[in-house]
Amino acid sequence: MKATMIVEKDFKIAEIDKRVYGSFIEHLGRAVYGGIYEPDHPEADEHGFRRDVINFVNELQVPLVRYPGGNFVSGYNWEDGVGPKSKRPKKLELAWRALETNEIGTNEFMEWAKRAGTDVNMAVNLGTRGIDAARNLVEYCNHPGGSFYSDLRISHGVKDPYNIKTWCLGNEMDGPWQIGHKTAHEYGRLAAETAKAMKWVDPTIELVACGSSHRNMPTFAEWEATVLDHTYEHVEFISLHQYYGNRDNDLQNYLAQTMEMDDFIRSVISIADYIKAKKRSKKHIHLAFDEWNVWYHSNEQDKKLEPWTVAPPQLEDIYNFEDALLVGGMLITMLKHADRLKIACLAQLVNVIAPIMTEQNGSAWKQTIYYPFMHASVYGRGIALHPIVSSPKYDSKDFTDVPVLESMAVYNEEQDQLTIFALNREVREPLQLECDIRNFEGYEVAEHIVLENRGNVKQSNSAGSTPVKPHSNGDASIDGGTVTASLPALSWNVIRLQKRGERG
Ligand code: AHR
Repeated sequence: MKATMIVEKDFKIAEIDKRVYGSFIEHLGRAVYGGIYEPDHPEADEHGFRRDVINFVNELQVPLVRYPGGNFVSGYNWEDGVGPKSKRPKKLELAWRALETNEIGTNEFMEWAKRAGTDVNMAVNLGTRGIDAARNLVEYCNHPGGSFYSDLRISHGVKDPYNIKTWCLGNEMDGPWQIGHKTAHEYGRLAAETAKAMKWVDPTIELVACGSSHRNMPTFAEWEATVLDHTYEHVEFISLHQYYGNRDNDLQNYLAQTMEMDDFIRSVISIADYIKAKKRSKKHIHLAFDEWNVWYHSNEQDKKLEPWTVAPPQLEDIYNFEDALLVGGMLITMLKHADRLKIACLAQLVNVIAPIMTEQNGSAWKQTIYYPFMHASVYGRGIALHPIVSSPKYDSKDFTDVPVLESMAVYNEEQDQLTIFALNREVREPLQLECDIRNFEGYEVAEHIVLENRGNVKQSNSAGSTPVKPHSNGDASIDGGTVTASLPALSWNVIRLQKRGERG
């Protein structure tokens, strides 16, 4: 089986915003307590943060982390999580039916983010709260001093403002499961008025309005149009959320779900542009895909958990090899829209539907999905190039004309590097790739990374055992401006090209 690609310097989509490699930490399950924070752990630093977890986050080069929710934020009083720890209330956390101790709050999380080398995408509560709590939180975080909330922060030991740039106006407000669920009109009005007040406190911030919780919500499309009608001049982003799962154990159909993701992205762009036209606006709304991942393995086991405990093991999906392939495909799909999709958050980062897992008092370990996410984040910086692809196709249960080859090219001009990300969806045979890189003269293959798993697509990793991990023994080679490579059946590939003599 054979596929061809043309990669050309001038076929530019856009400069990739590094924030597309963002992630998410919610006060949920063992993400915070027992995940990033475990004060009694041998790896804990002076703040109780696990150094081994921070090292993995550093390796992933995560530039942005959404916090503190998720569904959690819709019942959260941020004031409960600041000031002396001994005075912080323990509360029933209604979204996930757990007990929240508030031991970690805004200042602790900002300290963790600094150590993890990441910015924070802060969400405000538009479920049980509104304009007042949101504008006060912006004042607490971003105002230098001399006002009640900025001085409160200073009295809590934080002299300099955080200058948090990206903020979410609530979470999944279209969902009946959300605390304070609203209609599109109710949410749109509240989001617009909250946005105004937040920007009056700090005009430099950027705001994300809630889009639909997923593409199959009954209100999808109408929700986005109504919300943007209310908020267009006050926000920069509309959010998208989507999780997939191989519930029918149909691999070819599962791997084709990126086509639905692509359609979802295109639809939201169209809706945003419809409102732009309606308002005769010159401004483009960008997309924040601020929750995406595979999520289904843990659904049944979560039903058995006892309510009202601290940090129960919720949403602990153990990912397998086929999930890593889909995650790679989802990353390629998002990069194809680099001109409009500027933020994306892999949901989530630690223990909760996460690439990084921890054992209590034990090791931290890498799930299968860690690898494609790391490859994209580390090597996918620069200009997204539109590849011209010719690939064999197949039909699956829900999709027709699914290309066997899903691929994308990223040009890092500064470092004279060209990276090709390629997913081979074919189950039985390798795919012979022939890629014409025409005006990339003098480039050579630096590395061909392959994530493959002959025979067992259900293989997972675990603490102390990493059978699913990439190798660098791919056979990519270059001759006269044409890269050829054999992409093993069912594989994720990263072909890294470097201008000869430029770097090591
Ligand atoms: O990421 C887990 C949950 O999924 C989030 O809390 C919510 O926003 C979504 O439904």
